[in-house]
Amino acid sequence: MVSLKFYVRAVLSLILLTMLACQNQVNNPNQTPVNNPQTPTAAGDIPNRKWWKEAVVYQIYPRSFKDSNGDGVGDLRGIIEKLDYIKSLGVDVVWLNPIFASPNDDNGYDISDYEAIMKDFGTMADFDALLAGMHERKLKLVLDLVANHSSDEHRWFQEARKSRDNPYRDYYHWWNEEKGTPPKRVSFFDDKGDGWQYEPNTKSYYLHYFSDKQPDLNWENPKVREEMYKMLKFWFDKGVDGFRMDVIHFISKDTTFPPIPAEFKDDYGKFYGSGPKKHEYVQEMNREVLSKYDVMTIGEAGVGMEDAHNYVDADRQELNMIYHFEGVGLGYLPNSKKIIDPNGWKLTDFKDVYSRWDASFAEKGWNTVYLGNHDQPRMVTRWGNDSAEFREVSSKMLTTFLMTQRATPYYYFGDELGMNNIKFDQIEDYKDIESINWYKQIKDAGGDLKQFLDSQKIAARDNGRTPFQWENSANAGFTSGTPWLKVNPNYQTVNVAAEEKDENSPLNYFRRIVKFRKENPVLIYGKYTLLDKANESVYAYTRELSGKKLLILLNFKEKEAVADINLDLSRAKVLLGNYAAPSTDGKLKPYEAVILELAN
Ligand code: NOJ
Repeated sequence: MVSLKFYVRAVLSLILLTMLACQNQVNNPNQTPVNNPQTPTAAGDIPNRKWWKEAVVYQIYPRSFKDSNGDGVGDLRGIIEKLDYIKSLGVDVVWLNPIFASPNDDNGYDISDYEAIMKDFGTMADFDALLAGMHERKLKLVLDLVANHSSDEHRWFQEARKSRDNPYRDYYHWWNEEKGTPPKRVSFFDDKGDGWQYEPNTKSYYLHYFSDKQPDLNWENPKVREEMYKMLKFWFDKGVDGFRMDVIHFISKDTTFPPIPAEFKDDYGKFYGSGPKKHEYVQEMNREVLSKYDVMTIGEAGVGMEDAHNYVDADRQELNMIYHFEGVGLGYLPNSKKIIDPNGWKLTDFKDVYSRWDASFAEKGWNTVYLGNHDQPRMVTRWGNDSAEFREVSSKMLTTFLMTQRATPYYYFGDELGMNNIKFDQIEDYKDIESINWYKQIKDAGGDLKQFLDSQKIAARDNGRTPFQWENSANAGFTSGTPWLKVNPNYQTVNVAAEEKDENSPLNYFRRIVKFRKENPVLIYGKYTLLDKANESVYAYTRELSGKKLLILLNFKEKEAVADINLDLSRAKVLLGNYAAPSTDGKLKPYEAVILELAN
């Protein structure tokens, strides 16, 4: 009897302890679940369900979304004004590019205070109101962690550059002059392309993989890591629901900076990032901070599939997802400044990339998919066709691709309208440090500037950063002032107000397909099988789960095309398509997308 009482008490305390532990993990009342992973669905028993796998992420470039105070720059109050619009899309998570204090050498990817809001964007009170407004609407908020580098205007760097024995000196990487010229490291954005900047005051060079106003932080120094964890806790305690982590594979480097062998062509590869402690640091971050909150983490990491698993497999205790560059890198000349390959890109290569990444994550880890973001041009120009005839239909086709992959989709603001590249003619129109400094580098080297400017019309990042098109009034309703970057003149017809009125607009198609994905777990978790692999026009695949089988057919070309899929379509049911009369027989109209349910 005594032992039974003891046993019951022990079990009760265990339950209590477990409850406390769980409470501790989701210890923030401000965090609101989007989808309860326990919610039963038609999907039956799906192992390892997670809200962040089921989410559709909508990425907002705050500088270009909505300006509330007429200074020509989008801001947090502007986003607050438009929360109902964002909610109406059906998305679950909003990822904001950096909103922290910054001199804006690289539009916020150069942070001068990680716990303050950029003046152009507003105040901490605005941020709190934004977060509350999102949570009221059951939207989650993901911020951007820029941990590899800070701004040179950050207090740490201001101190570090004062003297060699300053307590903040080791927050950064230095190469003292008496050691000779530092081993070559190129910089992405510097006008000279040199990753070391001489600092006369202390007669030494500091490392910067990006612009010389973005010095690389030294993660070998435990104090730097502590600062980062403290900062992450600051935002999570406010209720932020996750972080996208900028160039996370760069935080660990070989700090002996060995010379790069001449035959090593991949400039930014292993001699730059992916250092020996990369996983040790991310695991530490997970242990110290991430594991204590129910948050979503996504690393930006130019790594191969094998290493991607080391970042995201659940047993690694690191991140939830990473995004790769294999897909968006197609169609450029190798090792070039995004110079367009005159041979274009092949659909078979595109299918190959997305199919290999799918296969790799079929059993373990979780995949992501995107075609546009702030580092990419507009998806419809790059992967579809932005001519008057095909812009709408091809943008809907690409949206169909993104929403039918076994991966968390990251959807870039404006793509729901079918916004396309602005295609500047002259370098003076560009505001992006990447375009401006690459132009200078090519000019100084006597290179082909025309080829560069022509390629930038397709590839430049500013194409994806032009102001959001709300309506057909001045500046597309983005600002009452002068916009920081030109508005695409097609705002007269391509804008939210016009598309709201049109049932068949890209905007309403996006809403429909987001809802459709959420109602059909087969599109989230179902097995993916590529069909008709060699077809250079049609991307065809099936998704299968619990006896349900969907067939997705996407024509990537402006001519009719036939999918050679060897399936009986006679009893197939059309579920969604981007034409009023969708194809049911595998013969696809230009840029047609159709989702069919196959009969059992
Ligand atoms: C990757 C970011 O996405 C990009 O916009 C930025 O310029 C670099 N990292 C440097 O932070």
